[in-house]
Amino acid sequence: MKIFLDTAIVDEIRAAHAWGVVDGVTTNPSLIAQSGRRFEDVVKEICAIVDGPVSAEVISVDAAGMVAEARPLAAIHKNVVIKVPMTAEGLKAAHALKKEGIRTNVTLIFSPAQALLAAKAGAAFVSPFVGRLDDVGHVGMELVEQIRAIFDNYAFACEIITASVRSPLHVIDAAMAGADIATVPYKVLEQCLKHPLTDIGMERFLKDWEKAKK
Ligand code: G3P
Repeated sequence: MKIFLDTAIVDEIRAAHAWGVVDGVTTNPSLIAQSGRRFEDVVKEICAIVDGPVSAEVISVDAAGMVAEARPLAAIHKNVVIKVPMTAEGLKAAHALKKEGIRTNVTLIFSPAQALLAAKAGAAFVSPFVGRLDDVGHVGMELVEQIRAIFDNYAFACEIITASVRSPLHVIDAAMAGADIATVPYKVLEQCLKHPLTDIGMERFLKDWEKAKK
């Protein structure tokens, strides 16, 4: 499974990229706002660090506006993927952008039928939001399993990005469900890396080594 970092904080991307585990990056308007920086500058800098898909989200609500926003963003770097919302206008934009050779990530997916339509419209990626489904009492990961089955039934090339990931368990479950990608906040990636027994084991090895040297 590929791992994308779900952040617009460039320092986090640099740190995780150095671990050799980052295959791409996803951003959204909330994450860009948190970074406090100009959208285009952040996207450019991320593309210089990570050699993989970098999702940049449009904020227009009409297809023509989305397409107009998408073109200059896609021109920043060949790896830029345009994130469009799962609406009728978003699908229209995804369809039009595919014809221009611009890849899209259809976001805010909460049902398998939505994912099916996005794939049919020509999206390169769909982003089911598992954490937000869990928040309202649905098992979010079941959505990923359903989309996996549907895409496999018809050999859709569209890749599934498990999004709204809140914990290492989501990462494991996404991998078990056969998601192509999990997009993970930096904090969750750190949680995946760390284990108290690893720390205790390290401490013990180093102590024993010190004793052996005496
Ligand atoms: O990838 C989408 C993600 O950024 C949304 O996460 O935690 O706001 O539901 P969250």
